Amino acid sequence: MRAVDIIQKKREGKELTPEEITFMVRGYSEGNVPDYQVAAWAMAIYFQGMSAKETAQLTLEMAKSGDQIDLSPIAGVKVDKHSTGGVGDKTTLILAPMVAAAGVPVAKMSGRGLGHTGGTIDKLEAIAGYQVELPRETFIKQVNEIGVSLIGQSGNITPADKKLYALRDVTATVESIPLIASSVMSKKIAAGADAIVLDVKTGSGAFMKTLDDSIALAQAMVDIGTEVGRDTVAIISDMDQPLGHLIGNGLEVEEAIATLHGKGPEDLHELSMILGSHMVVLGKQATTTEEAREILEKTIADGSAFERLKQLVEAQGGDVAMVEDTAKLPHAAKRIEVLAENDGYVSSIEAESIGIAAMLLGAGRETKESVIDLAVGLDLRKKVADEVKKGDVLAILHVNDESRVEESKQRIIQAYQLSAEPVEEKPLVYAIVT
Ligand code: URA
Repeated sequence: MRAVDIIQKKREGKELTPEEITFMVRGYSEGNVPDYQVAAWAMAIYFQGMSAKETAQLTLEMAKSGDQIDLSPIAGVKVDKHSTGGVGDKTTLILAPMVAAAGVPVAKMSGRGLGHTGGTIDKLEAIAGYQVELPRETFIKQVNEIGVSLIGQSGNITPADKKLYALRDVTATVESIPLIASSVMSKKIAAGADAIVLDVKTGSGAFMKTLDDSIALAQAMVDIGTEVGRDTVAIISDMDQPLGHLIGNGLEVEEAIATLHGKGPEDLHELSMILGSHMVVLGKQATTTEEAREILEKTIADGSAFERLKQLVEAQGGDVAMVEDTAKLPHAAKRIEVLAENDGYVSSIEAESIGIAAMLLGAGRETKESVIDLAVGLDLRKKVADEVKKGDVLAILHVNDESRVEESKQRIIQAYQLSAEPVEEKPLVYAIVT
C-alpha cells in the first residue's frame, strides 16, 4: 500500500477501505507516513468528506492509538458527556453529581481550558485540595463506592488524534466535519464510555456557527456511535450567548452549586436537565426522558445531588467547607461595573468576546504557560431579550490584577448586540439528534 495512492483515491472522492485508513493513521503515528502526505490526505478529506463507515474506522483507529481505559470493573452503563465548548458552560459540575444521584455511574475525565475560560478541571481546582489526578484503580474504586469521580485526562489517550489535530491546526483542515467528529468520538471511546451524550453548541460563540453545520456535526458523531456500538445522543444547544451569568473558575463552581440547590439561572438549570435526562435514559435508570427528568428534579429538591457533590469533593481531597459555604471559595479583591453606552434590547452576546474578556482578567490562558487566577471573572447582569438603558450595569468584573480592565470592558461592550426593537428569547435547544 502507498500513501500517495490513498491520497489520490480520496482526492477523487472515492470511499477508502478500512485497511487504507488504518495504513494512514498507524503509519502517521509510527512515523512511516510523513506530515506532508497526511496534510494532503486531510485536505482531500476536507473537500471530499468521508462516509459514515470511513469516519467510524478513522475514529476506532485513533481510539486504539494509545491507552484505552477499561471501565468494565464498574457495574452499570457508563455514560460520558461532551460539550463542543461554550463560554460559561459549567454543566459537567452539575451533571456529574446529579446523574450519579439518579443511579448512573459517572467515571469522567475532563480537560483544562485551551483559550478563553478554564475547563472543568481548572474550575474544580478552585476547591482547595481537590485532587484532579488519581491512580486508575482509585478512580474506579471511587466510582464503585460513591458513584462518581471527576479527574483530568492522564496517560496517553489518543496520541494519533493529538498529532493529527496539531497538523490540521496549521494546514487549514480543522473545520472538516468527519475530522472533528472522529477526533471528539475517539477520545470518548478511548476513555471507556458505553454511551455518550453530546452537547453540540451552535451560534456565534460556537465552533459551528450555523444550525445546519451543527446538525451535520451532531449527525456525524451519532453515526459513529451507531457504527461502533456506543449509544449516542446529540443535543444542539444555543451559544449565541454564554450559559448562565457567571464566568470564571471559582465563580462557575459557585453558580453550579446554586443550580444544585435549585437556585441557579434558568438556562443552566434547563440545559442540565435536558442533558441529564438523556444520560439517565442511556444509563438505563429511566425509560423516557420525561421520567428521567422527574428523577433528576427530585435529586435537586431533596438535596441528594448536592450531597453527592460533597461526597465527590471529600473523596478527592477537596475542602468541603467551600462547597457548603461558597463565600469560602476564592473571591477577587475588586468589583468593577461595565455600563451600557446605549439604550436597546439585547439581541445576542458574542460568547467568544465574553470569553476573551474573562481571559484578559486572568480567568483563562492566553498561552499554554499562563497561570489562571481562580478568583476572577465576570458576572453578566443582562442576557438576551433584556431591556437595557444607557448607564445600566451590563456586567460586573471580578478583578485582582487591574492592568487589562479597560481592554476587558471594551470586549464586553462590543459583545453586547443591542436592537432598537424588543427581542424574543432564543430557544435553548434547537434539535436533538439520535
Ligand atoms: N475538538 C476536538 O476535540 N477535535 C476537533 O477536531 C475539533 C474540536
